[in-house]
Amino acid sequence: MKTKKLALFTGAAAIILTAGAATLTIQASAPAESLASMASTGTSGPAITIYKSPNCGCCQSWAEYLAANGFETKIVETDNLNEIKQEHGIPREMASCHTALIGDLVIEGHVPADDIVAYLENPQFNTVGLSVPGMVQGSPGMETGKKDNYQVIAFSANGQQTVFREHNDY
Ligand code: CU
Ligand code: CU
Repeated sequence: MKTKKLALFTGAAAIILTAGAATLTIQASAPAESLASMASTGTSGPAITIYKSPNCGCCQSWAEYLAANGFETKIVETDNLNEIKQEHGIPREMASCHTALIGDLVIEGHVPADDIVAYLENPQFNTVGLSVPGMVQGSPGMETGKKDNYQVIAFSANGQQTVFREHNDY
């Protein structure tokens, strides 16, 4: 009985070995992959809720870009974006295609991940959040091949707007 079990086991091992290079490659890459996912969980960025229209492709691209940069993204599709922008004190001139929230902080439009992280690390007094107004070609999620200069604006509820970051000739 014991011998039979052992024989079966050895047989299975032989099958795995004869399955060849493909199997070996998968086995070799599996630990690396799980290490990578552990690393990204370990350095996971902030949780961000992204309100977007169901039909917006660039919003989706921006969300995927944030996720790739370690953000914990949650997408809420809505046709009432203007309502959300009003509710969170986003002036019309700061508006873009999507509105995202990290806690109470507003991230409006195609703001780069690094700028969001810098802002969270060093919050600007009395500001509602960051915005890249409009839809700038070349900003994250707006990779059209063209790269327009743009500014990331920190804005406050009283209408004050300051340049937080500039992206020129990137
Ligand atoms: Cu957009
Ligand atoms: Cu968008």
